[in-house]
Amino acid sequence: MNLLEGSVGVEDLVLLEPLEQEPLLKNLQLRYESKEIYTYIGNVLISVNPYQQLPIYGPEFIAKYQDYTFYELKPHIYALANVAYQSLRDRDRDQCILITGESGAGKTEASKLVMSYVAAVCGKGEQVNSVKEQLLQSNPVLEAFGNAKTIRNNNSSRFGKYMDVEFDFKGSPLGGVITNYLLEKSRVVKQLKGERNFHIFYQLLAGADAHLLTALKLERDTSGYAYLNQKVSRVDGMDDAANFKAVQSAMTVIGFSEEEIQRVLEVTALVLKLGNVELADEFQANGVSASSIRDGKGVQEIGEMVGLNSEELEKALCSRTMKTAKEKVVTALNVIQAQYARDALAKNIYSRLFNWIVNRINESIKVGVGEKKKVMGVLDIYGFEILEDNSFEQFVINYCNEKLQQVFIEMTLKEEQEEYEREGIPWTKVDYFDNGIICNLIEHNQRGILAMLDEECLRPGVVSDSTFLAKLNQLFSKHDHYESKVTQNAQRQYDHTMGLSCFRICHYAGKVTYNVNSFIDKNNDLLFRDLSQAMWKAQHPLLRSLFPEGDPKQASLKRPPTAGAQFKSSVATLMKNLYSKNPNYIRCIKPNEHQQRGQFSWDLVAIQTQYLGLLENVRVRRAGYAYRQRYEPFLERYRLLSRSTWPRWNGGDREGVEKVLGDLNLSSEVAFGKTKIFIRSPRTLFFLEEQRRLRLQQLATLIQKVYRGWRCRTHYQLMRKSQILISSWFRGTMQKQRYEKMKASAVLIQAFVRGWKARKNYRKYFRSGAALTLANFIYMSMTQKFLLGLKNNLPSTNILDRTWPAAPYRYFHTANQELQKLFYHWKCKRFRDRLSLKQVEILKEKLCASELFKDKKASYPQSVPIPFHGDYIGLQGNPKLQKLKGGAEGPILMAETVKKVNRGNGKTSSRTLLLTKGHVILIDTKSSQARTVIALDNVAGVSVTSFKDGLFSLHLSEISSVGSKGDFLLVSEHLIELLTKMYQAVLDATQKQLPVTVTEKWCAVRGQWPVFPVGPPSC
Ligand SMILES: Nc1ncnc2c1ncn2[C@@H]1O[C@H](COP(=O)(O)OP(=O)(O)O)[C@@H](O)[C@H]1O
Ligand SMILES: [Mg+2]
Repeated sequence: MNLLEGSVGVEDLVLLEPLEQEPLLKNLQLRYESKEIYTYIGNVLISVNPYQQLPIYGPEFIAKYQDYTFYELKPHIYALANVAYQSLRDRDRDQCILITGESGAGKTEASKLVMSYVAAVCGKGEQVNSVKEQLLQSNPVLEAFGNAKTIRNNNSSRFGKYMDVEFDFKGSPLGGVITNYLLEKSRVVKQLKGERNFHIFYQLLAGADAHLLTALKLERDTSGYAYLNQKVSRVDGMDDAANFKAVQSAMTVIGFSEEEIQRVLEVTALVLKLGNVELADEFQANGVSASSIRDGKGVQEIGEMVGLNSEELEKALCSRTMKTAKEKVVTALNVIQAQYARDALAKNIYSRLFNWIVNRINESIKVGVGEKKKVMGVLDIYGFEILEDNSFEQFVINYCNEKLQQVFIEMTLKEEQEEYEREGIPWTKVDYFDNGIICNLIEHNQRGILAMLDEECLRPGVVSDSTFLAKLNQLFSKHDHYESKVTQNAQRQYDHTMGLSCFRICHYAGKVTYNVNSFIDKNNDLLFRDLSQAMWKAQHPLLRSLFPEGDPKQASLKRPPTAGAQFKSSVATLMKNLYSKNPNYIRCIKPNEHQQRGQFSWDLVAIQTQYLGLLENVRVRRAGYAYRQRYEPFLERYRLLSRSTWPRWNGGDREGVEKVLGDLNLSSEVAFGKTKIFIRSPRTLFFLEEQRRLRLQQLATLIQKVYRGWRCRTHYQLMRKSQILISSWFRGTMQKQRYEKMKASAVLIQAFVRGWKARKNYRKYFRSGAALTLANFIYMSMTQKFLLGLKNNLPSTNILDRTWPAAPYRYFHTANQELQKLFYHWKCKRFRDRLSLKQVEILKEKLCASELFKDKKASYPQSVPIPFHGDYIGLQGNPKLQKLKGGAEGPILMAETVKKVNRGNGKTSSRTLLLTKGHVILIDTKSSQARTVIALDNVAGVSVTSFKDGLFSLHLSEISSVGSKGDFLLVSEHLIELLTKMYQAVLDATQKQLPVTVTEKWCAVRGQWPVFPVGPPSC
């Protein structure tokens, strides 16, 4: 961003052309008129009091300045505060913010803006917020008790304030310490025309409720109080009543108890009431003037309020006890002296109360010991003052400002130039006014004004302000910066601005004429012991604690240090403190004397710019280098910007820095000193910072990347390991379970087998076998019984008897049947075995008959019981017939009378049939002549009907002679026997089975025989 772009004038006076006083002022004026009140000289901020509220503050702007670097936005007090805070937080450097300028130039406002900025950007959290609140709320309390309306400033700080805010390593506030410098206590009793006493008095009267006022024995009307300027009781734009409430609540926030607040207000009221104690002349008998209290009521009330005997107070106010080694002398005070004593008491009470309040606040905001902290100090001290009548107070105030200017010179101009020389940087010296000589004039330990004053205060003999002045005149008659009527040359004899009792010091900011009146007194700052003792006697705990020296036991004859010496030493401490920190300057400029907005008083600003040395500041700044640092920390901070120096650098610090800057092409922007690197432009530094920020981001990303990778990898490996472990366990467990199952099964099977084997062997011994044994036994006995029963009850052995006893139980049924069959077979066999051969023959024949005709021929059953006789014709008694049989063929097998059916007519004729082993012979019954002889091997077959008749057909083979006539149709009464015997004879004779056909329909074949159906015989 270009600094000149869109800016009014130049935002940084370093860029001013030409570099002269006039353009500088013009630039400030131009900017001021455009409401651009801030301007830089490098890192120094110039602030011109706008005397109006500008819309450039608040959270929005704070956020904006927090995010940008110094030169990226318009000059602003927030930018400076940001640089200081960041340097504190990030570089661990203690900071101090020096706010200087005349009274009314805007120092206090600036310090508040800085504080509010820091409070807004530093850490957050309940604890931190409460610390912040306490720090911020200390302001209204201190302003109420320490600020007052002056001609120059309606809210002028009448004390110097240096506040150290302490932070932890993260940049969160931990607490702080406030140091106050020399309250302008003379204001308590007397104010200049147009000015007011401290705000708190007006606030108390306006803001306290009736109840509180009564308790404090006060009236609301300010005109009733001698210490309050009657003319100005109100300030425009200031609401005293509301401010009082704010002060009360701020005190509560800081941690004041209700009682403490009450006590503080009581002491404040006491001061007001003390002012109303009127003293009157009183003449004593010895003619010495004395004094007394005119109206006892006021003292009475004070006594009641703080628990003090009013007479004692009166005594303390109107007399003085002098103590010598031997005796105590009480002297009366005249009115003037008594009034002085009263005022001294009021001033002392008030200033001690103020100190007490500061200490009380410090107690609340203090940081515990041992915590490592960084410090940011904000100095808001009373500005350089030139009044019409300047007294001791102005003298010390201006001395303080002189010292601050010296800090500025030392740290920016002198130190800087000296450093260039030390470091061997080519340099053209810039002349500037070094105010060291003025500081010396005032503070020199032996020959300084303050030392002289102290000497005068301590010196025995008659001491007065004029002896002091004489001393100064004598000592500094030749001093360039000291002037007085006496030391003056002729020209100054007529200078009416300088009285006889005055001396003048040519301060860096202008000449100031001081009136030495009461210098001694104010420096002594002594309170009559009677008064402090009286105060100590009060029952009021706070008041009492303010006067510890009033305790007779504590009383010491040692003089307390003088006000001047105290101030000098506290300024010295302050300076030491400031030198140890990194300074940040805010130089406040007052644009006009009238607190008017928009008014730019050229002359007034010109004087201020002159004595502030702004022009010299710009010159040094321009010629010099904005930033320097020792090589080592610089390299440490920026080495990450070069590959050569990051991550490791083994060379020297200076070489490292050269490398880094060379890599960034910044070598022309810098100068290399002996121990330090000098950077010309802040922009280079900001560039470096920006590069560093980016690089840090990269590195952070790299670290994150590596870390995340590592984390994921280890996580993955862990998961993988776990997975393997789990699966191995799982598999193991599975296999184990399987094995266990198999083992258990094998064992089970083994057990079963073994058990089964064992049971088999031992079954008999088992009780469970008993049932079977019993059952078997019963079964056996039943079987036995059954069989024995059967044996005894066997049916007859007659083979025709098929009876058989039934089985007594069903399960014997099959066995019974078998036994029946066996028995029957046995019966038959026995029957057969007993048969004679003949019977066997007969039965064989019967059997043959049965095979041929059973179930075929209806007449068969009738034939079964009839024995085969064979001879039905009485062959034995018939020799004729016996002859016929031929003899050779053995006995006649069958002899019977048959009927021969005539094939021609169907008529029957009786014939005797003889069957021999070889022939069938048909014999005429009557003639006993053989009619037909048929050889058995000519018989081809026999046919019979299935009916009961005795008809049969004898088929002859065609080749035989007999057969040619056709078959014989015969009727026999013993057909079955005949055919059976014929069958057997044929079989025996020819070894052939004679075909015997049993049919229902048959006919005789061949011949002339008519075929007729054969039906059941009707005859
Ligand atoms: N930045 C500012 N914005 C607005 N008004 C300001 C500013 N700075 C100072 N003032 C005005 O100027 C007055 C005096 O400022 P102050 O800081 O009290 O001066 P100093 O402390 O230097 O004596 C304030 O009361 C306020 O009205
Ligand atoms: Mg101030």
